[in-house]
Amino acid sequence: MSFPTVRMRRLRRTAAMREILNQVNLQPNNLIYPIFVDEGITKPVAIESMPGYSRLPVDQVADEGKLALEQGVKSVLLFGIPALKDESGTSAFAKNGVVQKAIDELKKTHGEELVVIGDVCLCEYMSHGHCGLVKDGEVLNDQTLEILGKVAVSQAEAGADVVAPSAMMDGQVGAIREALDDAGFEQIPIMAYSAKYASGFYGPFREAVESTPKFGNRRSYQMSQGSPEEALREMELDLNEGADMIMVKPALAYLDIISIAKDNFNVPIVAYNVSGEYSMVKAAAMNGWIDEKTVIREILTGIKRAGADLIITYFAKNAKSWLNQS
Ligand code: PBG
Repeated sequence: MSFPTVRMRRLRRTAAMREILNQVNLQPNNLIYPIFVDEGITKPVAIESMPGYSRLPVDQVADEGKLALEQGVKSVLLFGIPALKDESGTSAFAKNGVVQKAIDELKKTHGEELVVIGDVCLCEYMSHGHCGLVKDGEVLNDQTLEILGKVAVSQAEAGADVVAPSAMMDGQVGAIREALDDAGFEQIPIMAYSAKYASGFYGPFREAVESTPKFGNRRSYQMSQGSPEEALREMELDLNEGADMIMVKPALAYLDIISIAKDNFNVPIVAYNVSGEYSMVKAAAMNGWIDEKTVIREILTGIKRAGADLIITYFAKNAKSWLNQS
């Protein structure tokens, strides 16, 4: 059957009709809200390349958690900017490190209401800005694993509900699982940044946390764009090592990878709608070139439709303002 018997427009005539047929529902409870905590400040400091976003002092993080909950968002992902950066990332696993303190504040205030996720990486804590130990210009893999295990355990000790390794070292999920289990944290899940690409979209984030590598780039550990089968392999390996959830990052230029993840694995799929994706929308909206709320809904619906169960997004902060069609 075809036109004129078939008329696709019959089902599009009213808003209610369109809504009853909607298959992809954006919900604030599937969003994860990233928070930047800075050890060296006493007031929020605006991040220039991320309009509307600031780094926060530790003592304001609990309030930010409350704002998230008020938006219907039930989870936050923490990134730290330590006072001290060195060549072995010691601030990343310090008992009273910036993220550890922030986790503690959030859990003391919000308890089980809020799922607190710690990003497990070293770039923010390293003087050279790389995600692992460096020797003779090379980012060392195996020697870095032990430190990543310590970071994860220190975050779990502080009360983190989930740890999210993002360093892209081989074997990091296995090493972290073992370290957590040895320390009695066998109940703490791992959200693995499995398919994490070397991307131009991380620019604003690196400004936010001052983690731009001082030499070279991250291409020897983060993935390159043109090989989708490699993503499948990364995800498979992480699951074999004990990942509970797998992530694709960034989201928009990698929707096919999200879809591959969903088709191949029966675990929660997470997509990271990264800083550059946020800032592009903000910049265009501030110029009056696009309608911000319409575009946010469209982007996040697309990411969800591709197969993401959870979306990490800076737009979570104002979820209520754009979630409802107006
Ligand atoms: C690295 C890390 C990065 C992001 C999250 N964790 C950036 C990088 O690899 O340089 C980027 C997030 C974003 O751009 O929003 N540990």
